[in-house]
Amino acid sequence: MKPRTTTHEHPPAPVGVSRRATAAGRIALPEPAPLPMRLDECLKTRRSTREYAEAPVPLQQLSALLWAAQGITSPGGLRTAPSAGAIYPLKSYVLAFRVQGLAAGFYAFDPEQRALTLLAKAVGQERVAKACEDQQCVAECAAGLLLTAWYGRLRREFGGATERLALIEAGHIGQNWHLAAAALGLGSVSVGKIDPVAIKLLLPVPEDEHPLYLLIGGMR
Ligand SMILES: Cc1cc2nc3c(=O)[nH]c(=O)nc-3n(C[C@H](O)[C@H](O)[C@H](O)COP(=O)(O)O)c2cc1C
Repeated sequence: MKPRTTTHEHPPAPVGVSRRATAAGRIALPEPAPLPMRLDECLKTRRSTREYAEAPVPLQQLSALLWAAQGITSPGGLRTAPSAGAIYPLKSYVLAFRVQGLAAGFYAFDPEQRALTLLAKAVGQERVAKACEDQQCVAECAAGLLLTAWYGRLRREFGGATERLALIEAGHIGQNWHLAAAALGLGSVSVGKIDPVAIKLLLPVPEDEHPLYLLIGGMR
């Protein structure tokens, strides 16, 4: 599909959630750790991993996972993962449980600023796991990337194909996360079994966004 435009429209800030925070509330991420593995090796070694070591993930490695998932790679704002019409309807949130150099919490990730904004402190990992069919890997992981969909502009452009296009895009982002994890020697797995209603009760996700997919990871 041809991009209609390269300008980026963000949904309106929801009540009670400062999505694109002020400069003061932003945490600039460090340069992403280099990915020291050839693509064919990443593809060969990527495997879903559901058990993680206790050790925290360094912030530079989390920065690399986020860059792989949704990094900006062109002056016009295009990203590592493709997006129908370059609309980028998926919003990224970080669940930090054990990240060296980052307080535990739930953060909005802004790919354009490569920055995090704290939205909630001390999110209970067990409760997040419960909202994901009580999966042990969620209870054990060091960090996760929650993708939510904001359908506003996508629906205006693509009508009935909206949900399908958003899901396809989530898959692209997921594979980028996993390949970067493989390159860094981290374990990772997709978590599709999530309860979007429970997630929204637990985490300050804007009302007009829909939780789609959780990508998690940790040290092996
Ligand atoms: C869309 C999607 C959702 C998934 N959801 C889960 C999940 O909720 N829990 C889980 O343990 N694995 C989940 N997986 C991982 C699959 O179980 C895994 O990819 C499959 O067993 C193949 O193994 P591999 O990834 O090591 O090649 C999901 C994978 C995909 C693509």
